[in-house]
Amino acid sequence: TILVLDFGSQYTHLITRRLRELNIYSEMLPCTQKLADLEWKPKGVILSGGPYSVYEEGAPHVDPAVFELDVPILGICYGLQEIAWHHGKNVLAGEKREYGHAILDVHRHTGKQAHADRLFQGLEDDMEVWMSHGDKLSHLPTDFITLATTKNSPFAGIAHEEKEYYGIQFHPEVTHTKRGVHLLKNFAVDICKAQQNWTMEEFVGKEIARIRALVGEKGQVIGAVSGGVDSTVAAKLMKEAIGDRFHAIMVDNGVMRLNEAKIVKETLTAGLGINLTVVDASERFLGKLKGVTDDPEKKRKIIGNTFIEIFQEKAKEIAEAAHGSEREGEIEWLLQGTLYPDVIESISFKGPSATIKTHHNVGGLLEGMHLKLIEPLRELFKDEVRALGTTMGIPEYLVWRHPFPGPGLAIRILGEVTPEQVRIAQEADHIFIEEIKAAGLYRDISQAYAALLPVKAVGVMGDKRVHAQVIALRAVQTTDFMTAECYPFDFKFLNRVSTRIVNEVHGVCRVLYEVTSKPPGTIEME
Ligand code: XMP
Repeated sequence: TILVLDFGSQYTHLITRRLRELNIYSEMLPCTQKLADLEWKPKGVILSGGPYSVYEEGAPHVDPAVFELDVPILGICYGLQEIAWHHGKNVLAGEKREYGHAILDVHRHTGKQAHADRLFQGLEDDMEVWMSHGDKLSHLPTDFITLATTKNSPFAGIAHEEKEYYGIQFHPEVTHTKRGVHLLKNFAVDICKAQQNWTMEEFVGKEIARIRALVGEKGQVIGAVSGGVDSTVAAKLMKEAIGDRFHAIMVDNGVMRLNEAKIVKETLTAGLGINLTVVDASERFLGKLKGVTDDPEKKRKIIGNTFIEIFQEKAKEIAEAAHGSEREGEIEWLLQGTLYPDVIESISFKGPSATIKTHHNVGGLLEGMHLKLIEPLRELFKDEVRALGTTMGIPEYLVWRHPFPGPGLAIRILGEVTPEQVRIAQEADHIFIEEIKAAGLYRDISQAYAALLPVKAVGVMGDKRVHAQVIALRAVQTTDFMTAECYPFDFKFLNRVSTRIVNEVHGVCRVLYEVTSKPPGTIEME
């Protein structure tokens, strides 16, 4: 494992990401991590960049024990300055900030200094790199040599003469440094001797062992599943680890996709063998949504709170049933499908006085039950969760599913959510997605759905005038869901979908295609 210590740079998680892409396992921890508290010894340590100046009062500094570990250390940007600071405090504010592309002049060495050249092995002498810093080294620290310079940074790359300490002023983890991954590989593989054996199979084995050790022989776990990829993959891992001592609960809130509850139940129970309880609470949710016409946030609150109520009731029931039975041992764990990007958000080093943010999408859930959290996906990025799902035999259609919001169709039915509106939205959505899949476009599109507008329009059907509902189709492409572009369907496709919806969904006479980008629009309608 390579340990990445985070000093708060916006790029830190990319270091972990690049190492994983090289099949090297790496873990990111805040720069304040005490090394004595680590239960494992890293093969190497990377000190990340950060927004501070090492010479400022209150600037974060690494546990000096890192220099006693006797493993290679690579400092990136702030990390380089941190290494220099530890070796004689030779850091000054730069005269001007250096930001953007730069050409590195790589120096090569001979004799006893030649070992230091391993960092730039196989890279060009005039390598293109990405810089983003204000401070720079004023002198080379004692016992260090220069590995590379740029026009503005005389010490853009340095190394200790004997020990395996390296510092670079640029960011190898961003794609603008074209061959940055090669440099990270030089460090991790050639210098640290890290193994490139991190695979999904390996992850599954280790994670199952970890869950078993954590939960013990009798411990029980509950968790909500939605039919989405994250909760399904997390549930499957729990099933593999502790069998029926994992209790999955799916709450049917009445605003799910067409036949969703039934399909998810079949896949999770018959297909994946997961111990699942489906609670049909459609009437309860729809009852509470009745009469809410023009406040999307109110819809979200009603659905969120009702979900927690029902989940809590069911969890108590399951706990009581287990109590005193042969499955003695009360439920003490709650499963969450938290992913690495959420974890980064909560462990990133945010400043000397920053408290670590606790983030949980169901924060406060099950108060009074004192549940401990178990988060088996917390080390994975979304695409890794998909790969994990495939490795564990989860069906393709689930692994590659578009995201579906917790409040479901309620935020795609503009205006009041009634059983009739839900039916129309479900049927129209089903046709749209079916056609997208038939056209082979599903994976090209990040998210697609049919929304129901709160207006009626006139149409003529079967020689009769009708006054019926209007459907708006939405399909977007995005990588991060923060910005999105409308998907450029060809006209024939839209025409086909429109014809099918108007003919097959009773109560609809018109279909529109929504073409707004995000921003200014959002992906959902409400
Ligand atoms: P927006 O509409 O904000 O959506 O552009 C961005 C992504 O977030 C999803 N989304 C939600 N997911 N609860 C959720 O679980 C919500 O209240 C919610 N609102 C939006 C949306 O589907 C899209 O993927």
